[in-house]
Amino acid sequence: MQTVTLPIADPEAEPRAEALLAAGELVALPTETVYGLAGDSASGEAVAKIFAAKGRPRFNPLICHVDSLQMARRVAVFDETALGLAERFWPGPLTLVLPLAEGAPVHPLATAGLSTVAVRQPKGVAARLAGRLDRPIVAPSANLSGRVTGTSAEAVARSLEGRIPLILDDGPSPVGVESTIVRPEAGRLVLLRAGAIARETLKEALGVRIETPEAGAAIAAPGGLASHYAPQGAVRLDAMRVEPGDYVIAFGPDRPEGLEHAMAIINLSPSGDLAEAAANLFAALSALDSPDVTQIAVTPIPMTGLGEAINDRLRRAAAPR
Ligand code: TXA
Ligand code: MG
Repeated sequence: MQTVTLPIADPEAEPRAEALLAAGELVALPTETVYGLAGDSASGEAVAKIFAAKGRPRFNPLICHVDSLQMARRVAVFDETALGLAERFWPGPLTLVLPLAEGAPVHPLATAGLSTVAVRQPKGVAARLAGRLDRPIVAPSANLSGRVTGTSAEAVARSLEGRIPLILDDGPSPVGVESTIVRPEAGRLVLLRAGAIARETLKEALGVRIETPEAGAAIAAPGGLASHYAPQGAVRLDAMRVEPGDYVIAFGPDRPEGLEHAMAIINLSPSGDLAEAAANLFAALSALDSPDVTQIAVTPIPMTGLGEAINDRLRRAAAPR
């Protein structure tokens, strides 16, 4: 299959994407967080193609992207807390895991047969296309399963070229890490995946308890497998010194010891800005995803704000495979 990339400003781009989606085909497209590999939520064939194109395990469910709260309520059952969250954070990078609504236009393959569903209203073209189809589009991140997430059309093409017909190009993803995933429960919020909306922001907005599922508990977001986002080389975190042969991912103005040994240095944010670092994270991992790069050393990154999501992704990139 030949893969065509069209800039989002091309008048052909959205109509072509809409026609492909309506025909049960896949389209890679930008969201504010990362690029997604989109298909019609109601089409078992489209959903099966998503799993096949990514090489993704079928027990790992997908996020439904909607154009409005109204569409979201055809998909999931909202309680007061969920409504409050949607009103405050949508459109935007917050994914809610909620009970699946009866008659939801979502194929059971997309939810991996669970009785819950993940739903979010993104900004931009993904929401517009859901609106045109009049049902959600399901979209995991547009990369091979377990590998570095695509945050540009070029990265998506490197990963999925020949497997999908169309990529919509809107430049580098502005946020750069995936949405935050939460499950509202009575009086508390369970944080299933740290992401683009910081824990502190959720806490301030809600004044409720935010809990992280215990490590070792049954995997709360089935995609939360230990090894993920993995470049080919070994990743060493919280590196205080650079060893010979290291490629370095740095953060902030401090020079780590032994920097003269570095094969190359990518600084995620020389000024120490975590939002800038998040936006640059996957491009850095992707640039170092090569057989020549056998050692990657990452200097410490604070756990505040977007630092939690950045550290989560780096821990998984460093996990044993
Ligand atoms: O920012 C994002 O969230 C991007 C863009 C494209 O929207 N999407 C994304 O999708 O990161 P994906 O498939 O890479 O990650 C979705 C995560 C997986 O870890 C999956 O296990 C979890 O959402 N998930 C989906 N449905 C769930 C459910 N019913 N319960 C718990 N976790 C669920
Ligand atoms: Mg992903």
